[in-house]
Amino acid sequence: MAGYDDRDGKIWMDGTLVEWREAKVHVLTHALHYASSVFEGERCYNGRIFKSAEHSERLRTSAELLDMTLPWTVEQIEEAKYATLKANGLTDAYVRALAWRGAGEDMGVASARNPIRMAVAVWSWGNYYGDAKFKGAKLDISKWKRPSPETIPSAAKASGLYMICTMSKHAAEAKGCSDAMMFDYRGYVAEATGANIFFVKDGEVHTPLPDAILNGITRQTVIGMLRDKGIKVHERYIEASELEGFEQCWLTGTAAEVTPVGQIGDYSFEVGALTREIATDYEKLVRS
Ligand SMILES: Cc1ncc(COP(=O)(O)O)c(C=O)c1O
Repeated sequence: MAGYDDRDGKIWMDGTLVEWREAKVHVLTHALHYASSVFEGERCYNGRIFKSAEHSERLRTSAELLDMTLPWTVEQIEEAKYATLKANGLTDAYVRALAWRGAGEDMGVASARNPIRMAVAVWSWGNYYGDAKFKGAKLDISKWKRPSPETIPSAAKASGLYMICTMSKHAAEAKGCSDAMMFDYRGYVAEATGANIFFVKDGEVHTPLPDAILNGITRQTVIGMLRDKGIKVHERYIEASELEGFEQCWLTGTAAEVTPVGQIGDYSFEVGALTREIATDYEKLVRS
């Protein structure tokens, strides 16, 4: 299969649609050296991007958290995303919006004089965890901890936060796992490398408080769906010792959608009725 830089199609860059293979940056791009970059992962279903405006707003908010004000409004970002989908003839696709500090007069840590740039690429993407969606994903436990919000702006969807995610996922895949669950800097259950986590016990749902993790848009959607069904959702600190007592577990995320988890380290979970129900309801909701 061709690399992601070697495909037909168009990519939106700084206001214009360019040929896919020509969507390039210079090696002295600030973001490449100092991780001054934020992004979104979105999915378009039947021509409609699920929670599109929320994602565009989060892109702008993430940028602000990194001291960057995007020169594009939410409406302009919306236009860019739909123009890119149209130019590539896609109605069901993954949508990647990205903003970063480009190359310019500054090459040190400070970057006030460099341009802030933006791009949108779209492509067809199936299940993020392959057949794990049906039989339950197997997760490793990462040696890396989600950092304190005093260490890094953990509420931002910023590239720098993914360094430990990539390393965690490589270690997990080397052990035959689909992903890794991470604890946070305090030792509480946090999230997977690109998805939030939920547990079920005695008909009630437990999920970590989003004070050191990304408060995912899917996470918020699923909490709303559960509460609408009258199911109690506890957003709280979850200790490592509690993993043994949970009956079901699933991950949520734009890419992951709702993916059942069968195993985390030595702990096993059943792909139970509530997990299946929420996964099916989410699939219906995104296409409704
Ligand atoms: C680290 C991390 N946590 C959680 C999520 C889930 O966020 P969302 O549901 O907004 O896609 C993602 C994916 O974007 C992620 O990368």
